[in-house]
Amino acid sequence: MGKSSKDKRDLYYRRAKEEGWRARSAFKLLQLNEQFDLFSGVTRVVDLCAAPGSWSQVLSKEIFTKDHSPDARIVAVDLQPMSPIDHVTTLQADITHPKTLERIMEIFGGKKADFVCSDGAPDVTGLHDLDEYIQAQLILSALQLATCVLKEGGSFVAKIFRGRDIDLLYSQLGYLFDKVICAKPRASRSSSLESFIVCIGYRPRAGWKPELRPDLSTEEFFQDMGIGRARLHSDLAVDDEERKVAPFIACGDLNSIDSDATYSRGEVGRSLDPVQMPTAPPYKRALERKRGEQPSE
Ligand SMILES: C[S@@+](CC[C@H](N)C(=O)[O-])C[C@H]1O[C@@H](n2cnc3c(N)ncnc32)[C@H](O)[C@@H]1O
Repeated sequence: MGKSSKDKRDLYYRRAKEEGWRARSAFKLLQLNEQFDLFSGVTRVVDLCAAPGSWSQVLSKEIFTKDHSPDARIVAVDLQPMSPIDHVTTLQADITHPKTLERIMEIFGGKKADFVCSDGAPDVTGLHDLDEYIQAQLILSALQLATCVLKEGGSFVAKIFRGRDIDLLYSQLGYLFDKVICAKPRASRSSSLESFIVCIGYRPRAGWKPELRPDLSTEEFFQDMGIGRARLHSDLAVDDEERKVAPFIACGDLNSIDSDATYSRGEVGRSLDPVQMPTAPPYKRALERKRGEQPSE
């Protein structure tokens, strides 16, 4: 699809370029913040799965205000390289690897974070069950890392896809946070199953010291918290009514752009270039080959 037709089909895409955001996802975090006031008093933040960096741009703008704390730090982690963003330390790393946690803690000088967010999405294989499983694992990895890095009372926001086992995840999160809400910003298309879990007030069980080790499976990591797929499935047979349903909240001003609508040419105007060209697009090697160059990696 051409740039200008995408500009009409998706006004958030257009608006992102006008306002200097690297991706339309910026509006999702802004609308979540409007609803839940996520950034008040926040100094240290981890942005997981952050490339190309529109959430980090929002965080940089919101946290590095005129009177920001001298302790303020933002760490952005992604498998892909990211172009620099003011006040943001970028790490090219895998969030599922325990070394990544060590590197984050080094940047924070051993202090814990107030806020962890993850907008992670793995590459899609097209095999539905496999994609759903990998996505669920990525959320659990983000949660694992969050439990190690968050201070008590901190918050966690992560993208989820409302699928078969979603209320299991709500129950799991209910063990760790005071409040768990499922939110759908207006910038997220209603045709998509995407939503965001907003978890407020991190409250790990007394005595539980989460520790990321390469030899521990996700299941073993969360064992003492009653969290894990196998554990939950067996629990469910017994404790069906203990399944929690998180309140579902739509957020974003009702007058804001409808992400499922197509707008007329007059409303859209001239097509704009992307704010930041992709650093490592999947088609890079193909272009290098076509030009007869040696592939860079
Ligand atoms: C939808 S994009 C994130 C967009 C970003 N929030 C923004 O506003 O620009 C999803 C990202 O998840 C990253 N990702 C997927 N699996 C990952 C992993 N295991 N570790 C780190 N990043 C990962 C992908 O590389 C991709 O850049």
